[in-house]
Amino acid sequence: MHTEFRYGRLKYLSFVIIDIACLLLANLISFYFYAGIKHLPYSFDRHYNVMMAMVAIDAGVTIVFSTLRRVLRWKKERELYESARHVFYSLVILSVYLFLTKSGSDYSRVIVLTAYAIDYAMIWLGRTAWRFLLLRLHRKSKRPTVLLLTTDGFVRDGIESLREIGCDVKYLYLLKNLQKKEIDGIPVIDDIKEAASVLCWEMIDRIYIFGLDHQMVPAYLVQACKEMNLEFELVDFNYRVIDVKTVQSKDSRFGALSFLEGKRDIPFPIRRAYWITETEADLHRGFHAHKLNCQLLFCPHGCIDIIVDDGDNKRTVTLDKPGKGLILMPGLWREMVWRESGSVLCVLASEYYDEQEYIRDYNEFLAYCQKYRATVNHGTDANTLLTERLQHCY
Ligand code: TYD
Repeated sequence: MHTEFRYGRLKYLSFVIIDIACLLLANLISFYFYAGIKHLPYSFDRHYNVMMAMVAIDAGVTIVFSTLRRVLRWKKERELYESARHVFYSLVILSVYLFLTKSGSDYSRVIVLTAYAIDYAMIWLGRTAWRFLLLRLHRKSKRPTVLLLTTDGFVRDGIESLREIGCDVKYLYLLKNLQKKEIDGIPVIDDIKEAASVLCWEMIDRIYIFGLDHQMVPAYLVQACKEMNLEFELVDFNYRVIDVKTVQSKDSRFGALSFLEGKRDIPFPIRRAYWITETEADLHRGFHAHKLNCQLLFCPHGCIDIIVDDGDNKRTVTLDKPGKGLILMPGLWREMVWRESGSVLCVLASEYYDEQEYIRDYNEFLAYCQKYRATVNHGTDANTLLTERLQHCY
């Protein structure tokens, strides 16, 4: 019940009440217009019954045809369409009712049609004004609020990345469901319908997908986002810092041993390994992105900054110990800065060397990002492209 009030159908209630109030008012206006103000419509049994039927039909149409679904996020055109749909269904059902109760012939069609015409204008105005008011009350924080779709292994990385780019994660939806109710004080939504309602009623500004696992975003959510004109911000930073297992010898003369194991640590098959040595401090390399190649970077000796850029935001990851690795997925611009001379950069790559899959021009990279995002947001399944990309890796 609590959830129903917070994001569920009961959140419609205020809109339903507005609808019914508009309908009653429209009826009164139409009645007085027809019969003059000498009469009270309620004093006529016929009018009273029909009016009550109209109210019942109105509530029924709202529930059965979900004419208020996502109402808080509708644009003007959508409101015009949905209000018209609502009034049309109500009118058709009322006609059937009048026909079945055989009261159609002695009840004025003019009153009904005028009432519904006025109702249409009034519910459109009423809903729009109420929505405006609710949104005004809602907008307290200037920082964009986010629903984060991720998997258990990426939750904290995701929250952290989004915080750094100035977004507050308000809700979490985990693609691989954890039985947790909240993580770091952020509520975890465990039902996809609830997630869609949260986007609507909590006026979430952005929806991010974070993580390497190519889980599908549930089609229901994709559809709901389309209805609300919400775009997925796909894989904001498609990278991950990992711990490379390191065994420190008890006797310091034996040093440390670090290791990485195929599928267990690396989410792609390794087709190539290369390393960069004999370097000087302050050397800058990289300045490219890959269309297909997934990489794992680590620095077994020295200190190297990796600047990762997803076309919108930049982040720097410092590889300063052999026990730290960085997985970079395709579609990220990278620049490497050698902090110490002699630092060694080792790279494990999912693809054989192929100059064709490199993007070496920054403007071309930005255009690539834009095209990629546009395709994703246009598609029926937001993660299909990501899935395709990742399938290349195996
Ligand atoms: P490049 O990708 O430009 O290095 P970085 O971006 O780190 O500065 O590669 C330098 C040269 O090495 C370039 O001529 C291509 C060649 N190369 C290979 O032949 N095979 C490889 O696997 C890599 C990574 C580079």
